[in-house]
Amino acid sequence: MKRVKLHDKEFEIAIRHDQIQTAIGVVAQKIREDMKNEYIPVFLSVLNGSFMFTSDLLKQMDFNCEVSFVKLASYSGVTSTGKVQELLGLSTDIRGRTVIIVEDIVDTGHTLVDLVAVLKKHQPKQIKVATFLLKPDAYDKDIPIDYAGMKIPNDFIVGYGLDYDQLGRNLRNIYKIVN
Ligand code: IMP
Ligand code: MG
Repeated sequence: MKRVKLHDKEFEIAIRHDQIQTAIGVVAQKIREDMKNEYIPVFLSVLNGSFMFTSDLLKQMDFNCEVSFVKLASYSGVTSTGKVQELLGLSTDIRGRTVIIVEDIVDTGHTLVDLVAVLKKHQPKQIKVATFLLKPDAYDKDIPIDYAGMKIPNDFIVGYGLDYDQLGRNLRNIYKIVN
């Protein structure tokens, strides 16, 4: 499909499925090299968006590893920012372990900053970040992005797990919004 319509908006193809797989192959190779001496790393997949990337990435891991699926829920609380982040679904004890966050996309990095802050309370040995997509022009945080599949401009995109108001996650290609 060259174009898709989701809700009120049109999207055109931006990254084909085969290009996605090639980019994941490169990232997977780096992770395999870095993790070869680590004891059972835990991949923490951040739902919902990263389900497809997690699946394709994990199939290329050839060492003993675990995968766990988490979700960040924000609710209003009495803090300086007015927002409290709660991590749902962390069933694995990550204390003293190597954790690899698996994200679909890092845009401004707000989500990542919140997630890393929550995870650090559990005292892992180290936290690495693997994201399929990175918007370098939007990302202005200090947390190093250890593994990025592709760097993309600040366009709004859907597909391969990413949604526009919950639609488009099932698409095998990535589509960008037509303005
Ligand atoms: P952040 O700005 O890095 O915190 O990104 C927050 C979240 O916004 C990501 O995890 C995605 O779920 C979503 N997001 C950011 N950019 C896009 C996009 O282009 N399309 C769809 N979702 C996006
Ligand atoms: Mg996400």
